[in-house]
Amino acid sequence: MSKDYYRILGINRGATEDEIKKAYRKLARELHPDANAEDNEWAERKMKEINEAYEVLGDKEKREQYDQESQSQPKTSKERVVGAEATTGEADFDWGLRPKSLDEYVGQRETVERLHIAILASKQRGETLDHLLVHGPPGLGKTTLAYIIAEELDREISITSGPALERPGDVMPFLTNADDGDIIFIDEIHRLPRVVEEFLYSAMEDYMVNFTLDKGMYSKPLPFRLKKFTIIGATTRPAMLTRPLRDRFGIQQHLDFYDESDLVKIARRSSRILHTKIETAGAHELARRARGTPRIVNRLLRRVRDYAQVRADGVISKEVAEAALKLEGIDELGLDRLDHGVLNVIKDIYNGGPVGIEALAATLNEEVDTLVDVVEPYLLKIGFLARTPSGRRITRRAYEHLGEPPPPGAITIQPSLLDEAFDANESLRQKAKAQRKGEIGAEKNEEK
Ligand SMILES: Nc1ncnc2c1ncn2[C@@H]1O[C@H](COP(=O)(O)OP(=O)(O)OP(=O)(O)O)[C@@H](O)[C@H]1O
Ligand SMILES: [Mg+2]
Repeated sequence: MSKDYYRILGINRGATEDEIKKAYRKLARELHPDANAEDNEWAERKMKEINEAYEVLGDKEKREQYDQESQSQPKTSKERVVGAEATTGEADFDWGLRPKSLDEYVGQRETVERLHIAILASKQRGETLDHLLVHGPPGLGKTTLAYIIAEELDREISITSGPALERPGDVMPFLTNADDGDIIFIDEIHRLPRVVEEFLYSAMEDYMVNFTLDKGMYSKPLPFRLKKFTIIGATTRPAMLTRPLRDRFGIQQHLDFYDESDLVKIARRSSRILHTKIETAGAHELARRARGTPRIVNRLLRRVRDYAQVRADGVISKEVAEAALKLEGIDELGLDRLDHGVLNVIKDIYNGGPVGIEALAATLNEEVDTLVDVVEPYLLKIGFLARTPSGRRITRRAYEHLGEPPPPGAITIQPSLLDEAFDANESLRQKAKAQRKGEIGAEKNEEK
């Protein structure tokens, strides 16, 4: 029972009964199948989760019991050292390490080059930058990019996020306050409620909205002319965006995992800012274990820096980095107990797979979303896991890493084909989804 029901409902532990009810209703509305045509499977799964959470937290006795039990629970996956999501208290630390210009932004050469050109061109023409959509796994620098762009354009940026915008009225202040060329950053844009999304269509395209001021009997929508702003949307789940919304972004950039040499650069840069000495070999040790993610390399640096100061002479050498990270339970590929848990469960309980994500999550007492967003992408990337239409399987390389001889039927993925395998998996998934939708459509037609 390690699910965090409070997190599922997006409330804090001290929430009142009323707040719990409201949070539940709001989520239930957002997840209604009508509002999630693009990713119904996800919405259904999510709905099940919030129902489960509400069943417990919405009942006084059950909630008390849950609170007591969860007090004695071990750390959740949220607090993993190698989790790519930001943790509480990390923001300030992150802030100081954030690159402030495109030149300082390490790696992602193609994205940086493209943005460089787009920014220069818009400046030369005195035109507003196209709306920009940035997608990619957590911690790769989406938010950082948004700030940098505002800086490079020398424009104001205002920050909001999908879940914070419940009604058109919530976006209006952002739209009307934006001046020509200003940036509105919408994080987690895949979580925009449908009404808000539709409201944004004309705002993004024609810089016009029709807004109803009050809801009286004679109220009617009034046209508002807006200044030419730029929306930067960030998302870890681009597939969940509806087509019309996605199409309104003139520039779309995908951020991919960073390679080791880029992460070494980031580790050295951050050490410099933190006035910590790091040897090249030490930086490589951090980079190798950072799962391709700048946020993680910075976090590892912070841990290792403490260790170096207390247990060594303050310098991060190869040995110091190794010893410190071993203490954190992170192996030489940056896999931690949760990753090992996933691999071992598939290996031992499901004979290497295939196993459905739901069953896997249940066996591990984890949330499906955590597995899909945080654990899987990296295991897929390094070719330890394969997503097949019948479920997840672990590969020959995973067996080898776990120190066991692979069984005869174990699958092999060539490292050079990793990205293609990843894409192939993704397109299989999309195809399966489309097929399912087709079937549903066909059933409906038969009914008619
Ligand atoms: N290209 C980069 N060069 C140097 N440091 C970087 C780079 N990208 C990200 N970072 C560092 O990683 C941290 C996390 O980046 P950021 O918050 O932008 O990620 P994100 O993609 O917005 O994550 P999330 O999906 O969780 O919102 C930043 O604070 C910054 O210190
Ligand atoms: Mg972010």
